[in-house]
Amino acid sequence: MKWREQKFSRRGFLKASGAAGLALAGPCFLPSSSGPAVGGRERFFHPNLADDDASDSRPETGGLRSLAAGKGLLIGSAFSNDAFQNDPLYGEVLAREFNCLVAENTMKLDVIQRVRGRFDFGPADEMMAFAGRKGMKVRAIPLVWHDALPDWAQDKTFPRQEALDILRGHIFTVMGHFQGRVFAWDVLNEALNDKGPGLREEDPWHRSIGPEYVDRIYHWAHEADPRAALFYNEFGMEGMSEKADRCYEWIKGLRARGVPIHGLGLQFHIQVDKHPTRADVTRNIKRFNDLGLTVHITELDVWLPKKADAADFRKQAVIYREVFETALAAKNCPAIVLWGFTDRYSWVPGISNGTYDQALIFDRDYRAKPAYEAIASVLR
Ligand code: XIL
Repeated sequence: MKWREQKFSRRGFLKASGAAGLALAGPCFLPSSSGPAVGGRERFFHPNLADDDASDSRPETGGLRSLAAGKGLLIGSAFSNDAFQNDPLYGEVLAREFNCLVAENTMKLDVIQRVRGRFDFGPADEMMAFAGRKGMKVRAIPLVWHDALPDWAQDKTFPRQEALDILRGHIFTVMGHFQGRVFAWDVLNEALNDKGPGLREEDPWHRSIGPEYVDRIYHWAHEADPRAALFYNEFGMEGMSEKADRCYEWIKGLRARGVPIHGLGLQFHIQVDKHPTRADVTRNIKRFNDLGLTVHITELDVWLPKKADAADFRKQAVIYREVFETALAAKNCPAIVLWGFTDRYSWVPGISNGTYDQALIFDRDYRAKPAYEAIASVLR
């Protein structure tokens, strides 16, 4: 049922986004002029298990990760436990190409606290152990979200104090468990209302507590792990748009009243024929950087229509290249996470009801696509 809701809201966004500042079709990303700026790139790198285990970690060479390291860039991928367990190539390619991992689903509330009050860290720990062995950093998502809710929270309104206790307990338990192994947390995901001003009001946390739940969760997260970088993560506002403006003003307000929020995650689920202009993405990242926030690209994939032709693959490669160039040219955008790497396990066919596919940099048989070479060329 959740899956269906997510589908509808996401499809709504895809329609709405055309009217909300995204450019349609055409070579919207302009040629790059500025070179990489890597200053401050290590700022939020946090010693984690990977570093503690450095003695037996063998960073692979020859893939994108060694090129990215040369630029001081974190290049990450979403991690699927199912794929990891059932497909030996999956872990091999991950370790060769990426220096950062994000659990695609196993750190969400419906997995980590499927039963209220009982925490299941097993699947996430499997990823952490792999990251540790391979010397990869870990970003974590999300502590608080309106989606991926377990049955006990779905459609619920709790008494205010009870909701506060649930969130506080979740944050301290989860961040405590992963302390020192996660360098950046998406404390909150997709909280902005898509239909009008303000925050989403239909989720259990807003319904039960009101908008001040946001301040509380950031303060708790900071208390739970004072060394972690705390992010807000959002979709459909990569370029300049009304939604991005609202986000900017809202975060400015949070920071003005001392809420510890250090970074903005731009999801970057985009389509080959519908994506923001490069100039707009540059401006948007810049204003958040100027506000003092680090920006991460958190869930990049570039969707192709189901019947893609060679021209679509070329356009996709250009978009990947330009996203990387834009991040490298920014003052403080030190991490790019792809939402998976092989089309074999991508979420795109499912979420788009089969209308889009092939959004990643390796095909279903792990053959590198033009997008792979395009990224490599930026990082060389
Ligand atoms: C998606 C996963 O990729 C799917 O496997 C799952 O069924 C639904 O969630 N924005 C987010 C991510 O913040 O957590 C979502 O991940 C994709 C959209």
